[in-house]
Amino acid sequence: MFLSNCWYVAGWSHHFQANHAVARTMLGEPVVLYRSNDGGVAALEDRCCHRLAPLSKGRVEGDDLRCMYHGLKFARSGQCIEIPGQDVVPPCARVRAYPVVEKDCWVWVWMGDPALADPALIPNALRHGDPEWWMQTGELAYEANYQYINDNLLDLAHLSYVHENTLGRNSMAWANSKPQVTRIDRGLRISRWVVNNPAPKYLDQPPGTTTDMWTSYDYMAAGVFLLQTRSYPSGAAAQCAMQEPSAEPLWTTLTSQAVTPIDERHTVYYYSGCLEKRFATEAQSLAQFAVFERAFAEDNAMIEAQQQVIWKTPEPRMLGTSSDHALNQFRRLMDELMAAEGDERAANRAPPLAAEG
Ligand code: FES
Ligand SMILES: [Fe+2]
Repeated sequence: MFLSNCWYVAGWSHHFQANHAVARTMLGEPVVLYRSNDGGVAALEDRCCHRLAPLSKGRVEGDDLRCMYHGLKFARSGQCIEIPGQDVVPPCARVRAYPVVEKDCWVWVWMGDPALADPALIPNALRHGDPEWWMQTGELAYEANYQYINDNLLDLAHLSYVHENTLGRNSMAWANSKPQVTRIDRGLRISRWVVNNPAPKYLDQPPGTTTDMWTSYDYMAAGVFLLQTRSYPSGAAAQCAMQEPSAEPLWTTLTSQAVTPIDERHTVYYYSGCLEKRFATEAQSLAQFAVFERAFAEDNAMIEAQQQVIWKTPEPRMLGTSSDHALNQFRRLMDELMAAEGDERAANRAPPLAAEG
């Protein structure tokens, strides 16, 4: 099950070069994206309405895309505008067109009803493309259902275990932290102090340095993770009575991540690492990102292995623990959004009520 009426990341802006068609599968649907003459990105169903050849094997011609099997040409609206050897192009000669917005170095595609595609619903990635910040980018393919990746990102207690030697910094600080979880519009806000955590090696702090970190993230439907971490001298959390700090931190790190279902069994995960240039050199930003890449490979190995066990288990049952609080809330939120979408579809299909009298 997927949430259709939602924006999904189809890739980084640099994935979509001029005059190239790029194939994606999103929520089980074949999609072709291409950058048209005006510099914008278009997204169409990747299935020619003639003989069902993939349009991603086609040729970009200005704002249009030509199928390279028998030459039908499609506008970015999805309408076929040319059939070689035929004078009349019937209106039914068309493929589905998806709303697309390029924002914060990501290309977002709306997979549901185009009439509901409101760009204001796109989450704001943190400092992507800001010249004051270093930004590193990556992506990772998963053989797993997207919900297990959401679950993982909604319970960061796993940093002390899965990422013992990377993000967890050989400390139990993450496992011992207590997050506050607040519902926000189409998502959750999860905030906490992580106290007495060893400083990251990549920032070249003196050995033994520990910090208190205020970490807060919004987790937005259907799987967008926007995390800021502000580091302070140890003791800051107690001075703030464990509330959000207002003081200038020693440094701030940001990461934005997006989980996009390919289909029920495959997912792609896009992520950034951002460090402010006034606190870090480019080499430190690259060193931080190298830690991220190692850590995300650790998640990948654990979640894919978990998924294999789940697929082999006839009736998988899970034991709830207190650290599942946020992921359970998010699953409920997704269920609500998907149920509302189902109700809307059902209402649109319902026959009109008989007139009274
Ligand atoms: S399959 Fe596309 S033109 Fe024939
Ligand atoms: Fe992780």
